[in-house]
Amino acid sequence: MSESNGNGTFHRNGKMATIEKLFQPVQERHDDTGNKVTVVGVGQVGMAAVFSLLTQGVTNNIAMVDVMADKLKGEMMDLQHGSAFMKNAKIQASTDYSISAGSKICVVTAGVRQREGESRLDLVQRNTDVLKNIIPQLVKYSPDAIFIIASNPVDILTYVTWKISGLPKHRVIGSGTNLDSARFRYLLSEKLGIATTSCHGYIIGEHGDSSVPVWSGVNIAGVRLSDLNQNFGTDSDPENWKETHAMVVKSAYEVIKLKGYTSWAIGLSLSQLANAILTNANSVHAVSTYLKGEHGIEEDVFLSLPCVLGSSGVYDVIRQPLTDTERAQLHKSAQLMASVQGGIKF
Ligand SMILES: NC(=O)c1ccc[n+]([C@@H]2O[C@H](COP(=O)([O-])OP(=O)(O)OC[C@H]3O[C@@H](n4cnc5c(N)ncnc54)[C@H](O)[C@@H]3O)[C@@H](O)[C@H]2O)c1
Repeated sequence: MSESNGNGTFHRNGKMATIEKLFQPVQERHDDTGNKVTVVGVGQVGMAAVFSLLTQGVTNNIAMVDVMADKLKGEMMDLQHGSAFMKNAKIQASTDYSISAGSKICVVTAGVRQREGESRLDLVQRNTDVLKNIIPQLVKYSPDAIFIIASNPVDILTYVTWKISGLPKHRVIGSGTNLDSARFRYLLSEKLGIATTSCHGYIIGEHGDSSVPVWSGVNIAGVRLSDLNQNFGTDSDPENWKETHAMVVKSAYEVIKLKGYTSWAIGLSLSQLANAILTNANSVHAVSTYLKGEHGIEEDVFLSLPCVLGSSGVYDVIRQPLTDTERAQLHKSAQLMASVQGGIKF
């Protein structure tokens, strides 16, 4: 029998005659962490992320950390039993952060989630206190990792992570409006009767109630819908496309009301972001990034804009031309974030 150590390298379990007869050693094995991803928090979001990461082949080296030892072990064993159906996966878990050593990416999904009727901003101090325990440990064991934060309120907790970690801003990313943009594209696809992947559009700003749809950029094959409908996305649009964004904002609340939490879409979104980083894809995703200086924002905040992602994290922020209304909405989100951040006890 062999087992995997904290670095994802296989070691044999003691000296056994059968093993000695089976193998002729040629050289020592390397400790190579490869594309290791640590996921902290094995709740609904964390497990959906782990499942997407493994089954989509984004990584074959997963470490999971949580405070609930039994749940953690159960999830690890259940996934390990599926190893034969995956791509040579190494799956480890521990309440001790040494298991995360040498990760390329640390995904943080730990913390409390919204209860029915609760806003994301309601969670801020409770989840800040959770991050104060988690982040220094992750930095200690994976000082070169890219951090992806999913815990809510995600924009503020990305700022909190940046502050606690001392990492450069390009290495701390919030999952942000990558999910909101995906929900938006799905709803557009339902209205237009074409594939979600062929509907292009971005939601920027806060992941949540004050998110900003960039109506001016919504397009199909480069055809901007705002060129076809001058009132596209406005209050005076008889076609009421604005409702699509209202549905995006409501969608998490609706799913939470129906099934108690959201998981699959955020898991897939996190997996996509990890893939962009691990493959140095230079692909563009709406993620929460340090925004001071962009679009005239003066506050020290993280909000989502389309960003180029690769192996060092955020390479560029895409400068979308925004209408005055869109820019004003973004500024309002930034002011809201800054005022909430002002009340955080570090
Ligand atoms: N960014 C997004 O788009 C998005 C989408 C959905 C949910 N979320 C957020 O993700 C977070 C997790 O949601 P969930 O539904 O998975 O919750 P959950 O309650 O199912 O899981 C949370 C997990 O975090 C663990 N945890 C708590 N404190 C910890 C600590 N100090 N160290 C390690 N682990 C700890 C818990 O034991 C639990 O297993 C919430 O904040 C939620 O609001 C974000």
